[in-house]
Amino acid sequence: MAFPATRMRRLRQTPVLRDLVRETRLSAADLVMPVFVEEDLAAPVAIEAMPGISRLPLAGAVAEAGEVAALGIPAVLLFGIPAGKDEEGSGAWADDGIVQQATRAIKAAHPDLLVIADLCLCEYTSHGHCGLLDAEGRVVNDATLELLARTAVSQARAGADVIAPSDMMDGRVGAIRAALDADGFTDVPILAYSAKFASAFYGPFREAAGSAPSHGDRHGYQMDPANAREALREAQLDVEEGADVIMVKPALPYLDVIRRIADATGLPVAAYNVSGEYAMVKAAAAAGWLDERAAVLETLTSIRRAGADIVISYHAKDAARWLQKT
Ligand code: PBG
Repeated sequence: MAFPATRMRRLRQTPVLRDLVRETRLSAADLVMPVFVEEDLAAPVAIEAMPGISRLPLAGAVAEAGEVAALGIPAVLLFGIPAGKDEEGSGAWADDGIVQQATRAIKAAHPDLLVIADLCLCEYTSHGHCGLLDAEGRVVNDATLELLARTAVSQARAGADVIAPSDMMDGRVGAIRAALDADGFTDVPILAYSAKFASAFYGPFREAAGSAPSHGDRHGYQMDPANAREALREAQLDVEEGADVIMVKPALPYLDVIRRIADATGLPVAAYNVSGEYAMVKAAAAAGWLDERAAVLETLTSIRRAGADIVISYHAKDAARWLQKT
C-alpha cells in the first residue's frame, strides 16, 4: 500500500497534472487595478513609497484605464485627489469633481471597463478625516452619512458602475442604498469596505492621496486588528443594509477574516492588497531579497485561496502580464 504522501507526490510530478488538480486559480479576470487621478495635474507624479505607481492627470488616467482593459483586467478602482480641500470635503460630491470627470472620460473611452468609485471624504477634507468633525475634532457619524450619500449619487450620475464606500461610518451602506435608489440607480451595486482595519499598511496610500489625518488617527471608526468576530458583525450589518459585495482590507494580515466572511455571508468577497503590502514587496525585490514575480503570484493566489473572489492590487497590471506568460 502506498503512503498517502506518495499519492500526492504522483499528482505533483508532471506540470500538466499539477495544473489540472490545482485548487485555486488566479487570472487577470479576478483583479482590480487602483488608479489615482489628480485634478489640475500637468504630468504624472511618482509616488515615492509605491514604485511604479503615480498620481495621474485626467488624460493619464484614461490612458491607464486603456492599458488595464487591454491586459484583461475587468475593473479600475478610482481615487480622486482634488485641487483644493475644505472642512466638509465638498470636492467629493461636486458634479465636476475629479472622480466624476475621470469616470465620465474613462467610460467614454473604455465603455466595457468597470469603473468602481472609491467613496470617502478623507482625500477631500482639509483635516484628512473620513467624515465631518465636531468642535472637539471628533468625527460625527450621522451628519457624515448625508454627504456620503450625496457623493454616491454624483458618482453614479457620472457613470460609475459600482460604488465602494471606504469611510467606515455606521449606517452608510443603508444611507447610500436609499439615496441611489431614490435617484433611479437601483441597479448600481455597493461594494462595501466592511471589515476595514485601522492598519499601518495604509501609509504609502496616505502619501499618495495626501489623506493622512492632521490630528489623531482612525481608530475611532476603523477596526481593531485584533478582532475577527467584530469583522463578521460589521459584514453582517452591511449585508442587512444592502451591500452587494463585501470587502476585507488589508488582505495579507487578515486572510482568516476573508475566509470567515466568505463562509458566513455567502456574498462575493473582495480583498484589498493595500499600499503597504505592495511597498514591502517592492522594497524587498529592489534590494534583491526576493523574486517579485514569484512573491506576487503566490500572494495573490493565497488571497484567492482564503476566499476572495476579487483581489484589488497595485500589482494587478504586473500580475496580468506575468500570467499571460505562464
Ligand atoms: C480611504 C482609503 C484608504 C485606503 C483606501 N481608501 C486610506 C485610509 O483609510 O487611510 C487605503 C488603500 C491602500 O493603502 O492601498 N479611507
